Amino acid sequence: MKNNNKIIAANWKMNGSEELMKEFSQLTRAKRNDIIICPPFTFLDSAKTILPDFIKIGAQNCSEEEKGAFTGEISASMLQEKSVSHVLIGHSERRTLFNETDDIILKKVKTAIKSKLTPIVCIGETLSEKEANKTLQVLDSQINGSLAKIEPNEQVIVAYEPVWAIGTGLRPDENEIKETHLYIKTKLNQHFDTDIPILYGGSANSENCSQILSIDNVGGLLVGGASLKKHDFNAICNC
Ligand code: 13P
Repeated sequence: MKNNNKIIAANWKMNGSEELMKEFSQLTRAKRNDIIICPPFTFLDSAKTILPDFIKIGAQNCSEEEKGAFTGEISASMLQEKSVSHVLIGHSERRTLFNETDDIILKKVKTAIKSKLTPIVCIGETLSEKEANKTLQVLDSQINGSLAKIEPNEQVIVAYEPVWAIGTGLRPDENEIKETHLYIKTKLNQHFDTDIPILYGGSANSENCSQILSIDNVGGLLVGGASLKKHDFNAICNC
């Protein structure tokens, strides 16, 4: 049976436009799910003015530094001033393309929390790690390297995104998602005082959303490609 209060987060990555933002102003209120849209930085202002109030605004990254001579960077406190409530941290694209290590991710999580943002920390294994049966080992080390080092009373969200499922149309089967989410849940429960929501991400769409959301310990979805189409994203929001 489906649980209530799932979190549906959209990661637009380096996509989108003012036009798309205007289209998304027509999203209908989801009865149960909490909706977060993470557009590129330059659309944060228009997201706040154009999107319906029930949608929370997230950023896709923040600097690990608080301020100073870091050309091109944006701090968590600057995001907070833009009415951003959430920030994606450690997305696999940032880990691989921008060399973000668990140490950097931990610093980013800490600065986000200090600025009263809720970090959505992304973890997940690559295809070669999966093929070598190292999925749980990788998750373990990513959790130990960042999440397990923050205060147990902090509010965070975790997104499990198998790297090989991102943008490929491939997905773990139901049992695999069940197994990994249970593993992550058990590990987070050992550290955190409160229940940490665990989102699933990787080729989630309007056709598979209700099946994925019905799996034990799946607290919501982090959606890439399908979050760029109003009709599809609206269907996922109301899944
Ligand atoms: P897709 O939904 O396009 O597979 O992307 C997932 C993702 O990377 C969300 O952060």
